[in-house]
Amino acid sequence: MAKITVILGAQWGDEGKGKLVDILAKDFSVIGRATGGANAGHTVVVDGKKYVFHLLPSGMLHESTVCVIGNGVVIHLETMFEELSVLKAAGIKLEGRLLISDRASLLFDYHKVIDGLQEERKGDKKVGTTKRGIGPCYMDKIARSGLRVCDLVDFETFEKKYREQVARAEQMYGFTYENAEEELKKMKEWRPTVLEMMRPTAVFLHEAREAGKAILVEGANGAMLDIDHGTYPFVTSSNATVGGVCTGLGLPPKALTEIIGIVKAYTTRVGAGPFPTELLDSVGDTIRNKGGEFGSTTGRPRRCGWFDGVQMKYSHMINQFDAINLTKLDVLSGLKEVKLCRAYMLDGKEITDFPTRLEDVERVQAIYDTFPGWEEELSGCKTFEELPDNAKSVVLAIESMVGVPVKYIGTGPARDQMLFR
Ligand code: GDP
Ligand code: IMO
Ligand code: MG
Repeated sequence: MAKITVILGAQWGDEGKGKLVDILAKDFSVIGRATGGANAGHTVVVDGKKYVFHLLPSGMLHESTVCVIGNGVVIHLETMFEELSVLKAAGIKLEGRLLISDRASLLFDYHKVIDGLQEERKGDKKVGTTKRGIGPCYMDKIARSGLRVCDLVDFETFEKKYREQVARAEQMYGFTYENAEEELKKMKEWRPTVLEMMRPTAVFLHEAREAGKAILVEGANGAMLDIDHGTYPFVTSSNATVGGVCTGLGLPPKALTEIIGIVKAYTTRVGAGPFPTELLDSVGDTIRNKGGEFGSTTGRPRRCGWFDGVQMKYSHMINQFDAINLTKLDVLSGLKEVKLCRAYMLDGKEITDFPTRLEDVERVQAIYDTFPGWEEELSGCKTFEELPDNAKSVVLAIESMVGVPVKYIGTGPARDQMLFR
């Protein structure tokens, strides 16, 4: 059986998943997205040109791959087609390269309206969602009333179900949705293309696996945004940890051969919610500016903080990483010192388990190990050995804190700015 490698965000998202997917893609025949939707923003920089993927797998730039949007994903078709047109304009061959699951949920514009309303009504308890309609679409799925890609086969029934859904949403949320006819018209136009791409993708993946084709899974969001294991309720609405890969693509756990955690050398978070190592001072600003920490999907400034070993050990416990890709080490160049959180203090006690209650995560105080910084820029380093000694020490400390080998180290956004160890 062929290898199946999984790339997962190990923190609060935006760790640099897209970049590693793009780097590894050439060795894989199939690349799949399992969960989330266009809340994801995965950046790939090739020859100075930046591509941001929201729904399409970041492997689309490699013409030898077939890309799959799995059953666990919530698909906003317009976003998908917009992304395809960007790739087409860039001259990428697309024919037959994108398959979408017949079981995937369809996300409509009214889900985005509801997302906005829910946030508004939460007042100062806002999650700070991406307003991409993710939560409301997964709500419909779990309530067993959502529409799926396969519903497009019979458009008459689709139309009926769609109108029922809109009426239900209007009644429930007290708004009038003006866009229904327009949206239905677009659905009808897109339908033939969607049906050409539609497959029972779980079957496709099993056949590919049996035929010895290597499969790469591109995780979305991050472990701490997982609906079950993250900092609930400040999370997304799907399983961003390894379990989501199995349900979201129909792959059995034992088929997964390698799990790679993507980890920033510091921590960022967009949106609201507790963040024990957050830096609210000028060091945080320096990291944000140097690291270009502004959301790939919403442009919001990302909150920045030190690396959090307690959070990372928890993330490793849930995902069991075989290797880590430590990203953005270059961003720490020029800092006087670098801190790594090794434990939390809660009610006068030192703890190393990530607390469940939001109120506790909000109250913990991070305990740090402090390392001397380095001045040198890292973008020119080609091997681990070439890194400044102080940077090496930070990498080794992270490795021993989490207990997982750091196999890849990011030294800049470009494809060739990655050290292999
Ligand atoms: P993703 O959602 O996990 O794919 O990550 P994003 O694309 O949202 O955010 C990561 C950002 O960091 C992007 O702008 C990447 O181009 C950039 N990036 C990735 N790896 C590195 C790295 O090692 N160094 C630097 N400086 N930037 C990186
Ligand atoms: P990638 O794949 C960072 C965050 C949002 C918000 C919360 C819920 O690029 O790493 P949602 O729109 O999903 O209902 O928002 O989750 N969030 C992300 N933060 N990276 C992401 O994806 C995210 N996807 C969702 O900011 O706090
Ligand atoms: Mg992102």
